[in-house]
Amino acid sequence: MNDSDLILDSINSRCSTRCFTDKKISEDSLEKIIKSAFTAPSACNLQPWEFILITDKDTLRDMADVHPFASMFKTATAGIIVCGNMEKCIKNHEEFWTQDCSAATENILLAANSLDIGSVWTGIYPVTERCRYLSDYFNLPDNIMPFSLIALGYPGQKKNIMDKYDENKVHFDKW
Ligand SMILES: Cc1cc2nc3c(=O)[nH]c(=O)nc-3n(C[C@H](O)[C@H](O)[C@H](O)COP(=O)(O)O)c2cc1C
Repeated sequence: MNDSDLILDSINSRCSTRCFTDKKISEDSLEKIIKSAFTAPSACNLQPWEFILITDKDTLRDMADVHPFASMFKTATAGIIVCGNMEKCIKNHEEFWTQDCSAATENILLAANSLDIGSVWTGIYPVTERCRYLSDYFNLPDNIMPFSLIALGYPGQKKNIMDKYDENKVHFDKW
């Protein structure tokens, strides 16, 4: 495979992982994953993101209680909370911050997959009680809004890559 095939394969083989082994992710890999988030595009290049990297076992286990669909944190060996900084939003177009944080979140998932590390995006924003849970837990400043909660770890399950391509959803030059 040439370089571009490898990159495409890494993008196209990403899938959610919800069960992890207890093998730790190295600091080097975590740094690569976090750094990839910063290369995401953002509206007006405002980069309105902040990240909480979690490796503490007790904190990871507590993340399983944030909402009913986050139980994979019982086996995750790391986690990342992508947050939006409301002081860095575009005036009159504030909601673009969610797209910026989505791009950062996806970069994290793709970087993890390229390192054979499993991940799953669990939704936080805009569910008020989930945002409040994390704001209280981490004592976040008022201008910091938790956006996504990502579980990370080496996969303890087989990959379930779905072929989601649907040619009917691709419209060429006109609808
Ligand atoms: C905004 C958003 C919120 C999500 N929330 C959860 C979640 O709370 N728990 C979960 O297990 N998966 C969650 N997912 C993952 C989706 O369920 C998953 O991406 C989808 O089923 C497609 O599967 P794939 O990631 O393996 O391609 C979320 C994904 C997105 C984009």
